Amino acid sequence: MIPETTGPAAVIVLAAGAGTRMKSRTPKILHEIGGLSMVGHALLAARSIHPRQLALVVRHERDLVAKHLVELDPDAVIVDQDEIPGTGRAVEVALQALDAHQELSGTVVVTYGDVPLLTGTLLAELVATHEREANAVTVLTAVLADATGYGRILRGDDGTVTGIREHKDATEAERLIREVNSGIYAFDAAVLRNALVHVTTDNSQGEKYLTDVLGLARQAGGRVAAVVTEDRWQVEGANDRVQLSALGAELNRRTVEAWMRAGVTVVDPATTWIDSTVTLDEDVRILPNTQLHGDTTVARDAVVGPDTTLTDVRIGAGAKVTRTHGSGAVIGADAAVGPFTYLRPGTVLGETGKIGAFYETKNVTIGRGSKLSHLGYAGDAEIGEDTNIGCGNITANYDGEKKHRTVIGSGVRTGSNTVFVAPVTVGDGAYSGAGAVIRKDVPAGALVVSLAEQRNSEGWVLANRPGTRSAELAQAATADSSSTQAPTEEGKQ
Ligand code: UD1
Ligand code: MG
Repeated sequence: MIPETTGPAAVIVLAAGAGTRMKSRTPKILHEIGGLSMVGHALLAARSIHPRQLALVVRHERDLVAKHLVELDPDAVIVDQDEIPGTGRAVEVALQALDAHQELSGTVVVTYGDVPLLTGTLLAELVATHEREANAVTVLTAVLADATGYGRILRGDDGTVTGIREHKDATEAERLIREVNSGIYAFDAAVLRNALVHVTTDNSQGEKYLTDVLGLARQAGGRVAAVVTEDRWQVEGANDRVQLSALGAELNRRTVEAWMRAGVTVVDPATTWIDSTVTLDEDVRILPNTQLHGDTTVARDAVVGPDTTLTDVRIGAGAKVTRTHGSGAVIGADAAVGPFTYLRPGTVLGETGKIGAFYETKNVTIGRGSKLSHLGYAGDAEIGEDTNIGCGNITANYDGEKKHRTVIGSGVRTGSNTVFVAPVTVGDGAYSGAGAVIRKDVPAGALVVSLAEQRNSEGWVLANRPGTRSAELAQAATADSSSTQAPTEEGKQ
């Protein structure tokens, strides 16, 4: 835990770039991995080191990004970059905005909005090294097998960092260097402010390079150093959708591994996807092909999967959720759901209750121990405790214009294919017969049946479907029964 008072003066997150390689109408940094936008991950890492101020530099698709930021982190400062291009300019405008209130002193951290796997732990290590060594600039670097495109770290004979050379400006010899600039730094605020004044756009890209600050800081007598990370994923950015999915898979691998280390059984990590926002208790078991999204929480000893996708679902201890698609639902302790169940928002299943195969539910509260075991729809309803809803029951909640509620008491037993034509109330302990269509309220303890008398037209098939297989079998059966004097079926209901 990093104490709140010792965080850096500011973190500046750069996000003004266009991200054209995503080929998307959605701004690059709003693309999601692990259930959160890339910039969302960047802001979480930034916040975790408790900066006194946090700024996000925007330009491309500015309004969409700003709107997203207000939802994610309303305390962050939005800074608009002007038409002068480059990372140096981006930091300069951010610093000017932050200084406007009170001139910053101390450590200023710069990160990118499109580097989603960076952790607060690594950022904190960067800041700690920077402050311990009293550096003017400390840059986070990594050694890559293929450094193409990155700025290269230049070091003197004694190994000290002397500067950064952009790929496009580098000589053949410099391009052989495999230590690269991650773009993540800790700066002394005063050094940064003074150096940026001298940064020009005099380079192959016509941009103000933030990387030029390192050389300028050294010229001014400051110490420049690097923190080298072994974990290249933490400094990797997503420029296109191939990289986005690679980062998403790696993030998921890390999330799943962390949950396993925390006591969760994950039978098949390769087919299990868990958003960064999900929480799981010890001794939860996740079976293959399961995706857990959003604010999903799973309590102790619950078993989820296989083949289950849940978004914002709360699962109680010991519950079992099998082959289920659900969102916005609450599943009580020791309850059972599935297989082949569709839980829609507002479903609340009480402890030890059951929603079984081929059920769809929406806006329904189901009391403790009540069971909806097979084939049906329950929507806009309230069901008491220890009620058993028979096979194929439907709440007819929609009259073509409005939705209406069904209220079913406790200890109710309904026959197969009961239809509740809402609005309707069924009292405690009532029973319904098979095929009941309940249009009027049923008092407690009553039996409700909807009977149309059954009529058998004997000989109908022979007369109306002559020559068919049915007619042939019917004729044989009639001949048999007349020879053995079987009792007639007539009159049986
Ligand atoms: C930059 C670094 C390079 C480093 C690489 C790591 C510079 C000059 N070069 O290169 O040394 O190896 O990152 O990925 O800094 N941005 C703005 N405003 C701008 C330009 C960029 O906010 O005017 C933001 C982008 O949104 C992005 C980040 O800064 O988040 C980096 O921009 P990008 O163009 O990808 O930098 P590179 O040229 O790749
Ligand atoms: Mg660039």
